[in-house]
Amino acid sequence: MLEIFYTKKPVSSDDFIRRILSEYYNIPNAVICKSIHGKPYLQKGKICFNLTHSKGLTALAVGKREVGLDCESLAGKARPAVLAKFSERERGEIFSVPDFYRHWTARESYVKYLGEQLAALWRKVEFYRGKIYLRGEEANVPLLQFEAENYVFSICGEYTKYSLRCVD
Ligand SMILES: CC(C)(COP(=O)(O)OP(=O)(O)OC[C@H]1O[C@@H](n2cnc3c(N)ncnc32)[C@H](O)[C@@H]1OP(=O)(O)O)[C@@H](O)C(=O)NCCC(=O)NCCS
Repeated sequence: MLEIFYTKKPVSSDDFIRRILSEYYNIPNAVICKSIHGKPYLQKGKICFNLTHSKGLTALAVGKREVGLDCESLAGKARPAVLAKFSERERGEIFSVPDFYRHWTARESYVKYLGEQLAALWRKVEFYRGKIYLRGEEANVPLLQFEAENYVFSICGEYTKYSLRCVD
């Protein structure tokens, strides 16, 4: 089970991570390390997490296995410059703003799952017919998507269930 906590109050990423780990996982004063590409993690313990923010919302996914989380507000418009970077077959299934952000967040959640750089992987990753592909090969990691509060969320990781909790 993956637990997703979110707030619409202004908060720094590290403060939010520490607060959630302290209040819900009994990990006070967590020491947050960063991987070479900036992915935060805990050196000790078996907790995995990933944070995202978009237009005033901050969300943190916490579970026992590696995870990448991305969210985007659906209040925005599709960005032509970004759309042009999707592959042809991806563009062929993007007809609306939600479609655009589903594709965008799917890709980002996979890059964040890997702890990689979006710029380095953008052209190598695809989200097509609900699945992630890396260099044309299907990536063997599940992707879950849902919408809440007019945001679309993508979760990449070995999870089949999630919960969503507002902690304002
Ligand atoms: C990781 C990345 C895809 C996130 O993009 P974003 O649009 O900022 O997306 P989000 O709001 O969803 O995520 C940001 C959070 O993800 C986490 N994060 C940072 N780098 C990460 C990475 N490589 N993998 C997974 N998670 C990462 C952090 O908690 C970060 O919050 P913070 O910046 O407030 O500390 C993007 O920043 C990236 O490619 N980073 C790699 C380093 C890099 O290329 N830096 C130069 C940027 S121009």
